[in-house]
Amino acid sequence: MGYFISFEGPEGSGKSTVIKEVYDYLTQEGYDVIMTREPGGIRIAEEIRNLILNPDHQEMDDRTEALLYAASRRQHVVEKIQPALKANKIVLCDRFIDSSLAYQGYGRDIGIDEVYQINTFAIENCMPNLTLFFDVHPEIGMERIGQRGFKDRLEQAGDTFHERVYEAYHQLWQENPQRIQRIDAEVSLEEVIASSIKKIKEYI
Ligand code: TMP
Repeated sequence: MGYFISFEGPEGSGKSTVIKEVYDYLTQEGYDVIMTREPGGIRIAEEIRNLILNPDHQEMDDRTEALLYAASRRQHVVEKIQPALKANKIVLCDRFIDSSLAYQGYGRDIGIDEVYQINTFAIENCMPNLTLFFDVHPEIGMERIGQRGFKDRLEQAGDTFHERVYEAYHQLWQENPQRIQRIDAEVSLEEVIASSIKKIKEYI
């Protein structure tokens, strides 16, 4: 069986840049690695991603949103993640179940346990072996993405929502100290990349 690593954190944590650097590093070191993202990673899940993040879909109900994330995750696990793990690959995934727990469970106030339940239905036992939590305060993170211009529907959700997501990540980290490792993401990108690689090397 391969090794499953998820990259998690609030908006603007830099994790999407870091994951590419980690992928290049591990590939150069001779590891068999794939890089993917959620929601997305495969055709059906990318279509669900567009549906969820479209800023025109303001009427989307919170539970519909949670179910769509779980549905896209199910397809992603079955079609891409499980086969890669069975082929002994290292899977690097930009966001996974903890995003749903933090954003829908706590941010949208559906309840972490409820969202965990629909997600265990979706993924069965396919949990990450290791999760890197990129810790950046939402004020800094939102300022970083603000410089980008366009904001998707989730990014538009407001400061209170993003504060709640941040709190939830801290709670998840404290409750899962084995699986979730915190990376300080308020420092320079070079430092974040270096500490991510160091952490991963301790585990694989
Ligand atoms: P991204 O910007 O990191 O690509 O993620 C897309 C957005 O979707 C981001 O705002 C976080 C959000 N999201 C959830 O709310 N729940 C989830 O389960 C996932 C995977 C992402």
